[in-house]
Amino acid sequence: MASYLRTVAKSSSSSTSADGPANSLGKRLVKWGLIIGVPTAVCVAAYLVYRQQQEQAKKSAARRSPLPTPMASVNEDTASGLENRTKSRLTVAIELKNEGNLKYRDQKFHEAIEAYTRAIEICPMESTEELSQFYQNRAAAWESLKDYARVIEDCSKAIELNQKYVKCIQRRARAAETIGNFELALEDYSTVCFIDSYQPAYIMAADKVLTDLAKRYMETLPPSTAELSKDFVRTSLNEFEDDPILNQSFIDELKRAQPDSSLARAYQAFDEDRYTDIPSLCTNELESTTDSPYKLETLLLRGSFYLLMGSYAEALADFDTIINDPEATEKIRLNTELKRANCKIHQRDIEGALHFYDQCVAYHPNECSPRVHRGMLKTLLENFTEAHDDFIEALRISPTNLRAKYQKLINDAKIGAKEHRNDRVERALSSFEEYYDTSKQDIYYALAITSCFLDNDRKDKALAYLDKFITHIPSNPTLLALKANCLMSNDPSNNTEAERLYIQALDIDPSNETVLTMFAIFKCNQNQFEEAAALYERAIHCTRGEEKLMQYAALLYAIRAQGRAIKRLNLNFPGGFPQGGALPNWMGGMP
Ligand SMILES: *[C@@H]1O[C@H](CO)[C@@H](O)[C@H](O)[C@H]1NC(C)=O
Ligand SMILES: *[C@@H]1O[C@H](CO)[C@@H](O)[C@H](O)[C@H]1NC(C)=O
Ligand SMILES: *[C@@H]1O[C@H](CO)[C@@H](O)[C@H](O)[C@H]1NC(C)=O
Ligand SMILES: *[C@@H]1O[C@H](CO)[C@@H](O)[C@H](O)[C@H]1NC(C)=O
Ligand SMILES: *[C@@H]1O[C@H](CO)[C@@H](O)[C@H](O)[C@H]1NC(C)=O
Repeated sequence: MASYLRTVAKSSSSSTSADGPANSLGKRLVKWGLIIGVPTAVCVAAYLVYRQQQEQAKKSAARRSPLPTPMASVNEDTASGLENRTKSRLTVAIELKNEGNLKYRDQKFHEAIEAYTRAIEICPMESTEELSQFYQNRAAAWESLKDYARVIEDCSKAIELNQKYVKCIQRRARAAETIGNFELALEDYSTVCFIDSYQPAYIMAADKVLTDLAKRYMETLPPSTAELSKDFVRTSLNEFEDDPILNQSFIDELKRAQPDSSLARAYQAFDEDRYTDIPSLCTNELESTTDSPYKLETLLLRGSFYLLMGSYAEALADFDTIINDPEATEKIRLNTELKRANCKIHQRDIEGALHFYDQCVAYHPNECSPRVHRGMLKTLLENFTEAHDDFIEALRISPTNLRAKYQKLINDAKIGAKEHRNDRVERALSSFEEYYDTSKQDIYYALAITSCFLDNDRKDKALAYLDKFITHIPSNPTLLALKANCLMSNDPSNNTEAERLYIQALDIDPSNETVLTMFAIFKCNQNQFEEAAALYERAIHCTRGEEKLMQYAALLYAIRAQGRAIKRLNLNFPGGFPQGGALPNWMGGMP
């Protein structure tokens, strides 16, 4: 789910954790994240900008004033004859530029261009600030004439002379975008963000370009043949308690009664981790027997794998068929309704998902899981009070439900953080710890409690727990990657350890997208943008579903563009990463 939602959850923690820079960083994450839907690129970019701003703050404000006032300096007495001559040429050039400006104002663009050209010719080479301004002005005139190639040419000259010429970089970005040079446009928008912080206008512009680039890239990709990872399938299905498609007595009965049926073969494929074969086997089952006693189970199995494979429209069609069938049992109906809402979240139709959850709660007032699922979504949407009510009701229905307990504590900690009530946060955290002995082998618990500590700036605690969980739940790539993420810092020995952990995690599951993308962020932090991009390319090849593909493709381009922008501005960012950045989704693939 929902990297989209992950952004929401993540940004809430950073925006509520502190005032000052971290707070505005959080806000920027929200904006950029929501608009672009590319949380990790956002984290990287926002972080870099944050650092950049800190460094800039140290420098004098004088440097911000872009141009000296040339007219004033011309009138000064001069010591050397050369300088005197230079100045007089400069004076003439500036007069020509002013003339150009008048023509420009009168919309006489050709005459303006002529004047700027003469200004450029006469302007001394060492007056770089002025020269770049003349080029930029001429570019503006070309832009009015819609000669975008020349706009880019003149802007490039101006930028060469003055690397931080925001107005001009923006102009080139616009022109590049207009003629379809999206990579240059994105590089320029990224540069502007670094120089001038994240203004909404830049973000919107970058978002549009990023979407265009990602779409174009996706058209070049062959249809995915990636197999779903076993880990992913199990974790995802585990989100739905008592999933009827995992009902062992049903599967045993099926294998006994109809061992040669397509449905039995679909379950065979399930056992052998050939997950992508399942939908077509289910289709065979539905087409071969008009009156299969297992029609609804078959539809549910097919719909569930469509959901996991990212074929949301197909999944929804199957779920609707089941829900409209009067024969559907209560258990099948409940599970289908939850998966249907989940599908809506994947499609980013949050309104639709909430509507389905509301319906599900209304139809099954005595079931715990609809409340838990709806509460989780409300937590992610920062609607903490309503989430709280859902968890309380879920626990009233089923007082021992662990998931409801964990989720309530996560939500409690978030309420505490939001209200700046440290006692409430501490209470939630220590209640969480009380489950340790009974839940220490539960990956869901492990990820929930560590994320909760991380959300509340308790990295030391999170690391201590991760060390323990890694011994109790060995060979789990997410735990290793999460630890690596926590270790990232300014300390190079910790970074070496982090890199080792990422590599170990990828040895266990070479095609785990979560780990690949986290490692990519780590590489970004080390200024290794090409390697980061390569990791995103790997992630693209093992992902399914248009939404994620779009997201990774956008990240790939965002990172490459940022890499180029950073090189261009000669920025340097040693390791370290902001709190709450790049945490994996402790909810697994689905809510
Ligand atoms: C250049 O300098 C000379 C004397 O050094 C002065 O007479 C002349 O006016 C100067 N020219 C300009 C344009 O300032
Ligand atoms: C990656 O691994 C973690 C846990 O090991 C799992 O929760 C997650 O779903 C995996 N992701 C994929 C895409 O396989
Ligand atoms: C599991 O399957 C059996 C046999 O089909 C059925 O009687 C039982 O109700 C199912 N249990 C659940 C939880 O769906
Ligand atoms: C919480 O949800 C209610 C309705 O469901 C809505 O009116 C309210 O604005 C939401 N609050 C927040 C903070 O989103
Ligand atoms: C990480 O860095 C801290 C100091 O910043 C150090 O005490 C610790 O030993 C390092 N951990 C590893 C695994 O290198």
